[in-house]
Amino acid sequence: MEYRQFGRTELRVSALGFGCGAVGGLLVRGDHREIVKAVSYAIESGINYFDTARSYGDSQSETNLGLALKELGGEVVIGTKVDLRSEEMDDIEGSILASVEGSLQRLQRERVDLIQLHNPLALQRRPEQGWLSTDDAEAALEAFAKLKEQGKVGHYGINGLGETPAIHKIIATGLADTTQTAYNLLNPSAGQHVPSDFPFQDYEQIISRAATMGMGTIAIRVLAAGALSGSTARHPNAAQGVGPIGTSASYADDVALARKLSFLVEEGYVESLIEAAIRFVIGNAAVSTALVGLSNTAQLELAIAFANRGPMPVEAIERLNEVWASMAGTV
Ligand SMILES: NC(=O)c1ccc[n+]([C@@H]2O[C@H](COP(=O)([O-])OP(=O)(O)OC[C@H]3O[C@@H](n4cnc5c(N)ncnc54)[C@H](OP(=O)(O)O)[C@@H]3O)[C@@H](O)[C@H]2O)c1
Repeated sequence: MEYRQFGRTELRVSALGFGCGAVGGLLVRGDHREIVKAVSYAIESGINYFDTARSYGDSQSETNLGLALKELGGEVVIGTKVDLRSEEMDDIEGSILASVEGSLQRLQRERVDLIQLHNPLALQRRPEQGWLSTDDAEAALEAFAKLKEQGKVGHYGINGLGETPAIHKIIATGLADTTQTAYNLLNPSAGQHVPSDFPFQDYEQIISRAATMGMGTIAIRVLAAGALSGSTARHPNAAQGVGPIGTSASYADDVALARKLSFLVEEGYVESLIEAAIRFVIGNAAVSTALVGLSNTAQLELAIAFANRGPMPVEAIERLNEVWASMAGTV
């Protein structure tokens, strides 16, 4: 497993990270033995970053990750998140302190390596959507700094979702150590320039901007929530209805778009679109860790094997650039 510097922190994280979210669902709906088996396999294979959140499965993900790691031992880097609910937004510091106490209890730790603000960002607060303003985000980062002084968190970051100008505004403050960003074969705009009429949200190269500010980047939605498998079928542990982030209006539309990339398999660049998706994201050296959401251990085994093949061939990236250019103005 390749390890990468995690921005300005002292940490090095595995290029492939373990997503403990509700979409793949293993850590939320999986059975305890299957969870321990997957976490154990990940650690043996060199994965050291585990990404969870208070909101995943109503905190079940944190509880299950804490139980598995207690059983297995081993040094890993844990990132969790605070998603402020609308009724918590008027006491940002108090709500964050309480949320982190709960996360530490569930994770069975005295300190978590990374705490992240989970709410998407906007220039003005949008409580009905759960989006915080950039002023709110700065208040949250101040609360995180207090938790760091108390030794309860090692580092803190933001969620690079929401309005692109708001995300870039917070990155520019230099207050956060890390960001998460949606980055995949259907929408590569967090990592590279796209035409002005590109059909999906333009994240305006968050990844290189964050790197310039010394921030680490955690890539999310690497598999477009599973659509990059090219199949609409879902594993029983998975969320059965998924809202895309930064891609098409529906999961089915994302699957249809993913199928247009099947030339990558037919022309022998990769054995599957999942392989292409993982190797594309890992190919960006400014990504610290690329998360995969998992429904079972078999998916993890494949992800590790694909990640260990390294970046995609240059010719395949050239073909992809043509595809992205042709997508401009199509929606
Ligand atoms: N910051 C945020 O707001 C945010 C948002 C989203 C995610 N995240 C983080 O990022 C992690 C990953 O994101 P995600 O789970 O939403 O999306 P993802 O990694 O893009 O997709 C996960 C889905 O990919 C499919 N998959 C995985 N391996 C596969 C394989 N070998 N073959 C076929 N299908 C495969 C599974 O679909 P099936 O289950 O149908 O088999 C799984 O549910 C999360 O766990 C979480 O930690 C953060």
